[in-house]
Amino acid sequence: MSEKLRAAILGGTGMVGQRFISLLADHPWFEVTEIAASPRSAGMTYAEAVQGRWKLDPLPIPEKVRNIVVKSVDDVAAVTADVDFCFSALNMSKEEIRAIEETYAKAEVPVVSNNSAHRWTPDVPMCIPEINPEHMEVIPFQRKRLATSRGFIAVKPNCSIQSYTPALAAWKSLDPYEVVVTTYQAISGAGKNFQDWPEMNGNIIPYISGEEEKSEKEPLRIFGKLENGVIVPSAGPVITSQCLRVPVMYGHTAAAFVRFRKPADKDELIAKLREFRGIPQQLALPSAPKQFIRYMEEDNRPQVQLDVDYERGMGVSIGRLREDTVYDWKFVGLSHNTIRGAAGGAVECAELLKVQNYIQHR
Ligand SMILES: NC(=O)c1ccc[n+]([C@@H]2O[C@H](COP(=O)([O-])OP(=O)(O)OC[C@H]3O[C@@H](n4cnc5c(N)ncnc54)[C@H](OP(=O)(O)O)[C@@H]3O)[C@@H](O)[C@H]2O)c1
Repeated sequence: MSEKLRAAILGGTGMVGQRFISLLADHPWFEVTEIAASPRSAGMTYAEAVQGRWKLDPLPIPEKVRNIVVKSVDDVAAVTADVDFCFSALNMSKEEIRAIEETYAKAEVPVVSNNSAHRWTPDVPMCIPEINPEHMEVIPFQRKRLATSRGFIAVKPNCSIQSYTPALAAWKSLDPYEVVVTTYQAISGAGKNFQDWPEMNGNIIPYISGEEEKSEKEPLRIFGKLENGVIVPSAGPVITSQCLRVPVMYGHTAAAFVRFRKPADKDELIAKLREFRGIPQQLALPSAPKQFIRYMEEDNRPQVQLDVDYERGMGVSIGRLREDTVYDWKFVGLSHNTIRGAAGGAVECAELLKVQNYIQHR
């Protein structure tokens, strides 16, 4: 048996699925041994299935997966026969995804998902491993509900929140209680590039379906507590948001204003950002950035073009922290939406689940 844990990628042919494939090409703990997608791709080799729609150029399709024959996600028995767990990056209706992910979990295959379908299922952990690793302790309660011994679902949050929620977590002891945030979101967040979506050239679209609700509510679940077998969201901070689609390929930027109950000066706020670290850093998980949050002193940073790949896309860049005349402080944050905000964040969750012994060899 391979030393590495064998993973299936559900939705492996899509934008986020391709990122999973690329990030896992040389992963020290995990290897991709199955890829599943829609019946449109089933039966083709992976290289055939993504021909003409590989979106990560100049990164190549990894050699190890080129000849894997893509299976249909519906063919659960075949996809799960020889894997230890799976990542999910499907693009279907919420109801369909909810049902499919639960079917995989009930087939005793842990599911680490990028999708929003289960983010509010009370016994499903939604995790940013640096911030709320203890939420994984809800898994035994979920297993009880699903009547499984190894299967469960764990999710990562929406891609937008990683550009400001880590700062709020770093400042938790100062009790931030009101946040106004505007996000400027890349087109890859919609699974598209400029060829697929030419009307985004030189354009801004002031609407992303469902995004404002996610940006306002998901941080509260991340800051929540495990009580009586479910995650109870935190009551604050109150967050209000606007989410705009901007002509950027990768990188979600956030401009945020914050009110704190406890006062702090700029040096203290910056020190808290720089010192903030979690279990991924302590255990040096393979995907963990060494420095989770960096503070940039230059007035014109962070910039998408220069800074989105910080720490291989797993770090968060914060800048322009200054006092505000209406709120207390304001800042700008940037994170990579398909790495930290999607596939990379899910891979880091799976690494955490492995060290916590929730994902093991079959
Ligand atoms: N892009 C981002 O930055 C980002 C960030 C966070 C979360 N997300 C979420 O991640 C998920 C995937 O996003 P994406 O941008 O990667 O989408 P995408 O590029 O449209 O990929 C969709 C994947 O789902 C598969 N699929 C679609 N319909 C299916 C069906 N009826 N049965 C089985 N498989 C089906 C596709 O297979 P075929 O190739 O065979 O059609 C493909 O593998 C979405 O829920 C999205 O909201 C995306």
